[in-house]
Amino acid sequence: LAISKKDAAFLRKVLTIRQMDISSLHDFKALKKELQLIEKTFGAPTLRLFYLSIPPTAAQPFITLLGEAGITNKRTRLLLEKPFGTDLASATDLVENIKEYFHEEQLYRIDHYLAKEMAQNIFVFRNSNALFKRTWNLDFIESIEITASETIGIEGRSVFYEQTGALRDLVQSHLLQLAALVLMELPKSGKLQDIPAARLRALQSLLPPIDIPAQVTRGQYKGYQEEVDNPGSTVETFVRLTLFSADESWQGVPITLTTGKSLNQKLTEIRLRFKQQDSSEANTLVLRIQPNEGIEIDLWVKQPGYDKKLQKLALQFAYNNYYDELPEAYEHVLVDAMRGDHVLFTSSEEVLASWQILNPIQEHWSMDASDLLYYKPGASPDKL
Ligand code: BG6
Repeated sequence: LAISKKDAAFLRKVLTIRQMDISSLHDFKALKKELQLIEKTFGAPTLRLFYLSIPPTAAQPFITLLGEAGITNKRTRLLLEKPFGTDLASATDLVENIKEYFHEEQLYRIDHYLAKEMAQNIFVFRNSNALFKRTWNLDFIESIEITASETIGIEGRSVFYEQTGALRDLVQSHLLQLAALVLMELPKSGKLQDIPAARLRALQSLLPPIDIPAQVTRGQYKGYQEEVDNPGSTVETFVRLTLFSADESWQGVPITLTTGKSLNQKLTEIRLRFKQQDSSEANTLVLRIQPNEGIEIDLWVKQPGYDKKLQKLALQFAYNNYYDELPEAYEHVLVDAMRGDHVLFTSSEEVLASWQILNPIQEHWSMDASDLLYYKPGASPDKL
C-alpha cells in the first residue's frame, strides 16, 4: 500500500504496542481505560477494531473478557480469523458466546479468499455477461471442480495444523465460500450487499455427504508425522470431496472440492465443464483465482489445412495483460472492516451452514482412519 511520508510519520507517532495477559480481566480493564484516554485525545467518535488472529479455543475467553470489561460499545468491531470453531458443536458455542456481547453487524469474519480479485469477479462475471447468465445451471453445466493446491507444507505451524487439518483449514472456509459464489442465485436486486444472503442460501442447499467413502478422499504427505513430531498422526493434509446441491438449478451436478499441501503446484481455480450438446463439443470455463488470475475458455476451432480436423484452443483474459498490480486480499478486508462493509465477510449463519455440511465427514473420520492415503511431497492432485 503506497503511503505518503507525512502519513507514515503520523502513524509512527500514534501507534503503540501493548503487551497484556489475555486471560486477565484486570488487564482488559486497564486496556479499556487506555482506550478511553486515546478517544479523549482524538475526540469521539472513535472506531475500535479488535482483530483476533488466535485459535478458536483462545478466541472464546478473549471475547468474554472484552465483554466483561465493557469494551464492546457500538463503535467496536470484532475481526475474527478462521477457523471459526472446530466443528458444528464448537462453532455453535462460539456463535452463542459472541452473541452475548456483540451484534452480528459488529462481526467481521475474515475469509481472505472472498477478497481475492478473481473471487470478487465471479459475481460480476455471472451477473454482467448475458452469455453465461443463461447457461449457468444444470441444463448446460455437467460438473464443477474447485481446486486449491499448494506446494508449501505446514510451514512450522505444527500445533495449529495438528488441531486443524485440510478440511477445517481450507474446505470449511475458502473452498465452500468459492462454491457458494458459483452456486448462489444471483440477487435479483443486482446489489453487492445482497450477496452474503445469496451465499448463505447456496451453502444451505449443499447436501452433507451421505456416502463418505465414495464422496471423500483424504491423504497425508509423507514426512508430515516427523515434521509435527507425532508418529501415527491421522491429520489430513489433502482432501477431495464431492458434493451435490438440492437447489433445483444444480440437482445432480457433482461439485468437487480439492485441496492439499505439498503438492506439485500452487494453483487455485474453478473449472466448470459445460455439457456436450447434440453435435457440438464440450467447453470448459476456468476461473483462475491465483496465480495468473484470469478467465479462460476452451474453444473448438478448425485446424488450418485440408484435413477438417478440430482443435481445442483457449480464449484467455489475464489480469496481468491489463492491470499492473492487484490489491492484496488482506488489505481489502481490513479496509472494508474499517468502512463497515460486510460483503466480503462470512456471517455466523454461513459458518454454521458450512460446518453442517462437513459434520458427517468429521464424525466418520473420528471413528476410523484406515482410508488415509499417504502421498509423496510434490504429488499431483489428479493422481490421488
Ligand atoms: C490460509 C490457510 O487460510 O490460507 C493456510 O490457513 C494456507 O494453510 C493459506 O496456506 C493459503 O492462502 P493463499 O492466499 O496463499 O492461497
